[in-house]
Amino acid sequence: MEDKITLSVIKADVGGFVGHSAMHGDLLDEAKSRLAGVQADGIIVDFHVTACGDDLQLIMTHHKGVDNEEIHHLAWDVFEACTEVANRLKLYGAGQDLLADAFSGNIRGMGPGVAEMEFVERKSEPVIIFMADKTSAGAWNLPLYKMFADPFNTAGLIIAPSMHTGFRFEVHDVKGHKRIFFDAPEELYDLLVFIGATGRYLIKAVYAKDGEIGAVSSTERLALIAGKYVGKDDPVCVVRCQGKFPAVGEVLEPFTMPHIVEGWMRGSHYGPLLPVPLRHATPSRFDGPPRVIALGFQLAHGRFIGPRDMFDDPGFDEARRLCNALADHLRRHGPFEPHRLPMEAMEYTTLPEVMEKLGDRWEELPEL
Ligand code: 13P
Ligand code: 13P
Ligand code: MG
Ligand code: MG
Repeated sequence: MEDKITLSVIKADVGGFVGHSAMHGDLLDEAKSRLAGVQADGIIVDFHVTACGDDLQLIMTHHKGVDNEEIHHLAWDVFEACTEVANRLKLYGAGQDLLADAFSGNIRGMGPGVAEMEFVERKSEPVIIFMADKTSAGAWNLPLYKMFADPFNTAGLIIAPSMHTGFRFEVHDVKGHKRIFFDAPEELYDLLVFIGATGRYLIKAVYAKDGEIGAVSSTERLALIAGKYVGKDDPVCVVRCQGKFPAVGEVLEPFTMPHIVEGWMRGSHYGPLLPVPLRHATPSRFDGPPRVIALGFQLAHGRFIGPRDMFDDPGFDEARRLCNALADHLRRHGPFEPHRLPMEAMEYTTLPEVMEKLGDRWEELPEL
């Protein structure tokens, strides 16, 4: 049997330029030169470095499997080196997502977001890597559901014999530290009970019915790890396409509906998710709107052939127009819900500090 390849996407915000809007080129250069060194040493097969907004994305292939200490450690080292560069330039929020003082064992739970999958490369292996900024890990639930379970999105669920049996969803309860598997289409309604609650139940992975992995997402929730607001999760998601998985166009189709996600200004607002080409992955209006990029690659023996900038297509113009209309409408609510997050979610922001100051001004209502 052919060797398995591992595709690891590990990301962190280690400093923004300007504010939280984008990434300075010096950080990208630092990350590229570090990973080139690691590649020359034979530790990784190939890599691609990019940014979505102020989040640094390390996209790597190797033969070491998921949750590998050496790979996680080297990603942490790259983030630390880039934090030093960010400190030198006094970039905004240098080292923002590095919540631990030093690396220990596994980068998960230390701040960065992680999406990894191990598989045997097929005769042709198209993959799409989605990366978002100014939003939370729950942002992938709706698009993953559409890609792998909704026949109005994915024609292959009906037409393709290889997909007709459906898929299996792995859902994590990130507050209860539990997981559950659901088979679609058999258990669609059970699946939707949970994944509709995007702050708590996150689709971690999707598998073909034979067990082969088709998609994986980062489910790290920064606020739950830090216990307070330090920045948004700004998650990533990897999807394998074609053959027994949805076609490239079926994987992109969910983003024609700019669904409403948590994030935007101060991580405290709901806003529509804007699909953009890489050159527009620079959220500035009210630090947003939240946005997503999609880089497509063909893998060839672990080498990245690409990327193609998949949302650089006029086919997404109407989604972008609608997104801006929705953004305008929500913005007009100012500090009112449902633009601002509900109180439960605001607990992780600095709002409780303000409320505390006003605590002793509250009086009991007079008895009737
Ligand atoms: P497969 O070639 O993966 O079967 O998909 C058909 C296709 O490309 C539809 O867009
Ligand atoms: P990031 O999570 O992208 O750093 O954004 C933080 C923020 O507060 C934006 O207003
Ligand atoms: Mg930031
Ligand atoms: Mg960010």
